[in-house]
Amino acid sequence: MKKQGLQLDRVVLLGRTYDEYIRSFALQMEQWRGKKVLDVASGVGSFRAEASALGYDVTAADRIYDISPEELAARCATDLDHIIDSVRDLNVYRWDNFYGTPERLRGLRERAYKTFLQDYGRHGDRYVKINLPRLPFRDGDFDLTLVSYLLFVYEDQLSYEFHKESIREIMRVTRGEARIYPTVTFEAEPSKYLAKLGEDLLELSVKVINTDFEFLRNSNNFLKISR
Ligand SMILES: C[S@@+](CC[C@H](N)C(=O)[O-])C[C@H]1O[C@@H](n2cnc3c(N)ncnc32)[C@H](O)[C@@H]1O
Repeated sequence: MKKQGLQLDRVVLLGRTYDEYIRSFALQMEQWRGKKVLDVASGVGSFRAEASALGYDVTAADRIYDISPEELAARCATDLDHIIDSVRDLNVYRWDNFYGTPERLRGLRERAYKTFLQDYGRHGDRYVKINLPRLPFRDGDFDLTLVSYLLFVYEDQLSYEFHKESIREIMRVTRGEARIYPTVTFEAEPSKYLAKLGEDLLELSVKVINTDFEFLRNSNNFLKISR
């Protein structure tokens, strides 16, 4: 069957804002005040920058954090142009739920990466270079771990084993819960890995939690993992 979603040959450098994270993960941030939050595959998003300005303790982790701010700035701009042109006419996206227009989406993505770049330049120690499925943190270091737009959505590029090992590793470093968003692929279809993960990760509680946020169709839920 012909693909209808975004066609990507690699994981792109795009970042979301704090508000988009709040909506995607249905976060009640007061619950996490005084706790340690980890944003895995945080990329050029501004969740860490904005949350820390509000007094939250957030560590960002991504495989790009050994790259200079100048090089990242150039790569963000190229990826943003490409994505906005690509999603404009795809019917797997809903514009009525949050973004309104491709121009507003571009504005938010631009604000996210510019805010990220400033924070990355000033607080480099809070941006940790990682390479999933391994994490360089101690057991139970974090109360809440978030993963936005890496797992499930890139199912055609990342294997089932990668997903399973990444989730086990995330739960090794997380003493509270992890939330993964979205649970669908870029074709807006539920990831085929979900059912098997439920069977293989019997030591964990894996639940789909519904939200009211939906841009990529059927992405109005996240996976909540706890013990
Ligand atoms: C589409 S971005 C998502 C950024 C952010 N979480 C958001 O939702 O706006 C995906 C990120 O995953 C990162 N990534 C891809 N493979 C990774 C790996 N094996 N380990 C760590 N980060 C990885 C990329 O560098 C990129 O920044």
